[in-house]
Amino acid sequence: MAHEYDLSPGEREIANRFHQLYYDKRLGPDNHRIWEQTRWMGFPVLKTPADLWTYQEMLFETKPDLVIETGTYASGTTLFIAQMMDIIGKGTVVSIDLQPLSIRAQHKRITYITGSSADSAIAQTAATHLPQGGSCMVILDSDHTQAHVSEELRLFAPLVSVGHYLIVEDSNINGHPVYPSFGPGPYEAIESFLREHSNFASDRSREKFLVSWNPNGYLRRTR
Ligand SMILES: C[S@@+](CC[C@H](N)C(=O)[O-])C[C@H]1O[C@@H](n2cnc3c(N)ncnc32)[C@H](O)[C@@H]1O
Repeated sequence: MAHEYDLSPGEREIANRFHQLYYDKRLGPDNHRIWEQTRWMGFPVLKTPADLWTYQEMLFETKPDLVIETGTYASGTTLFIAQMMDIIGKGTVVSIDLQPLSIRAQHKRITYITGSSADSAIAQTAATHLPQGGSCMVILDSDHTQAHVSEELRLFAPLVSVGHYLIVEDSNINGHPVYPSFGPGPYEAIESFLREHSNFASDRSREKFLVSWNPNGYLRRTR
C-alpha cells in the first residue's frame, strides 16, 4: 500500500546511493568514515546530524521524563539529549554500556550504568530512574545483532510510554541499504517485533530527511 512518505523507485535509488556514499566514504588525514568523525560538543556521536535533528524534534514534541539509551560509546548522543532536556526544562538520561569509558561527558541529567543491555537486572535498574507516573523513551544502540536487539526489545519496549518512542538504531545495516554482509540485525528484529506487537507502529515521518540510519526504526507506542 502506498505511504505518504514513500519515494518513487527512482528517488529511492538516489537516496540509497547517497546513503551508501555517506556511510562508506572515508575522508581526512586519518581516513575515517564521516559518521566516525561526527561530534556533539567535542564528544563522538556515531550518527548523522539529520538523525540527531530528528531526536531534537521528537524530544521537543514528546518531552519524556526519562530517556534510556543502550550503547553509550563516547556519550555524544547522551550529552546531546541531556542538553536538549536543559533547553526543554525537564528530563533525565540513563545510558547503559558494557564498557565504562573514562572520556564520557559528565552532566547532572546523565546516569551511566555499566553492564549488558540484555541483562534483565540492568533493565530493572534503569527503570528505577523513571519517576512515578512519568513518561519514558528508549533508544537501542548497542550490539546490533538480531538476537541481541530482539532481547533488548523484550526487556525495554514495555517501559516506553504510550505516545512516546522506541528508537531502534542502525537498522540500515545488512543491506538496508548499507553493510550488506552484516547478517540479520536491527531491521530484522524490528520486523519480527512489529509482527507481534500491534501497540507499536513505525513512524515514517521521522525519516523525512530521506537518509536515516534507522529505516523503520522510529517506533511509536500507540496504546
Ligand atoms: C554503536 S555504539 C553506540 C553509539 C552511541 N549510542 C552514539 O550514538 O554515539 C555501540 C556501543 O554498545 C556497546 N555494547 C555492545 N554490546 C553491548 C551490550 N551487550 N550491552 C551494552 N552495551 C553494549 C559497545 O561497548 C559500544 O560502546
